[in-house]
Amino acid sequence: MSAPREHFGSRIGFILAAAGSAVGIGNLVSFPVAATKSGGGAFLLVYALFVFLICLPVMMAELALGRKSDKDPVGAYRQLSGGSRLWRIPGWMALITPFMIAVFYMVVTVWVLGYLVEIFKGNLTGLTTEAYFGAFINSNAVFVYLIALMIIINGVLAMGVKDGIERAAKTLMPILFVMLLILVLFVLTRENAVLGLKYYLIPDFAKISPEVVSKAMAQAFFSLSLGMGIMITYGSYMKKRDSIPGSAKAVALTDTLVAFTAGLLILPSIFHFNPQIDPATLSDSSAGMIFLFLPKIFLSLQDSIGYIGASIVAATFFFLVLVAALTSLVSIIEVPVATLRDERGMSRKKAIYAIAAVQLVLAIACAMSFGMSGPLTELISIGGANKSFFDLVEILFYDTILPLNGFLVCIFVIYKWKKANLDRELQEGDSSFAGSLSQKYVNFALGTFIPAILLLVFINTVLLKFFNTSLLNLI
Ligand code: PFF
Repeated sequence: MSAPREHFGSRIGFILAAAGSAVGIGNLVSFPVAATKSGGGAFLLVYALFVFLICLPVMMAELALGRKSDKDPVGAYRQLSGGSRLWRIPGWMALITPFMIAVFYMVVTVWVLGYLVEIFKGNLTGLTTEAYFGAFINSNAVFVYLIALMIIINGVLAMGVKDGIERAAKTLMPILFVMLLILVLFVLTRENAVLGLKYYLIPDFAKISPEVVSKAMAQAFFSLSLGMGIMITYGSYMKKRDSIPGSAKAVALTDTLVAFTAGLLILPSIFHFNPQIDPATLSDSSAGMIFLFLPKIFLSLQDSIGYIGASIVAATFFFLVLVAALTSLVSIIEVPVATLRDERGMSRKKAIYAIAAVQLVLAIACAMSFGMSGPLTELISIGGANKSFFDLVEILFYDTILPLNGFLVCIFVIYKWKKANLDRELQEGDSSFAGSLSQKYVNFALGTFIPAILLLVFINTVLLKFFNTSLLNLI
């Protein structure tokens, strides 16, 4: 007989674990970078609209699928489709996607860990050159950090849902919130910080183009950990008496507040470093911001608070990013763990070992695709440019497949599993949802414009990434 399904111990435990998944590098770095480049407050508004009007209903649908079926994504699609062969495909996609996203996300997290250790060793100055970054990501130290990271993540997973995932989130998330606030308050007292605040908060609607809208949509979707099977899996650990709509709102709100607050940290820091800066000249990439630009900004603080002070601020920031990434990685690796347990009847420990072994190999391949291995560095030509193994995983699984997975969730829930079943599950533990405006909105939106938007984002991404064109060019 298989063991009874594990559950989160409390509603707040679930909210913190799901928020731990949602709050990641996406919030602390990608969001502020995107807002900087795309109209500050205007981007913020578009982003917030997407979070609450488009992504929140998808999150509710994923949680409902998981809780109703009590299963991992593969099992959830199989069970709720009545065993349909066709609907097995999205189940498998909701398994492979998190598995592969975890691989590339782990590599970036390894770099964050490596930079944190260097700051502790007193080497903040060393981190401020581009050459250092190039040398670091191609050094053997990366493999040592990778193993350390995997031991931490899998150690948490091995302790189970309540004693591992939930306890880690309950301990780490409050620390993250407090440290983030302290950093923001500190940065806001720096010279010229107000310039950054103004840049961030005064909307520049002229910058809102169709590309920016599409970017905001993809960012919101990624940030809420949707399309990755995570919310289906976490939903299966929710108790029937807890409200799905209420908990999902709390998670989306927390996630958005953290992203917003991270902007209050990054933009004032940039303008304190250089009040004349034109943010349009900054790199688009989050990695460029974390590893190339931010160390320089932190080092410049030594003029006012000394080298140790600057190192403490830098270490706090890198620690925050590390914590955010760890809780996200825990959630994403729990998806294949749940699948092996539910579908193959494996024990938690066995599942963890099996997954870690394959992910270790793939993560090593990703880490080696920045120059260490020629063939992996120039693996394939996509859209006319040579792409590495790391790029390929990112383009396929993060950029392209996520909106497709989201589209499939909407179509499945409304047209295969059926509205009435979704309604019933969303009302379980939340009687006030029945007949509410939210319920009518969720029902209508999930069956109409939300999948339409996700499908458009998917098609546009395929055109952009693989064919160097976009929907706009084709119209
Ligand atoms: N919400 C996460 C973020 O914003 O970084 C997305 C995520 C990425 C979750 C990678 C889990 C993960 F492993």
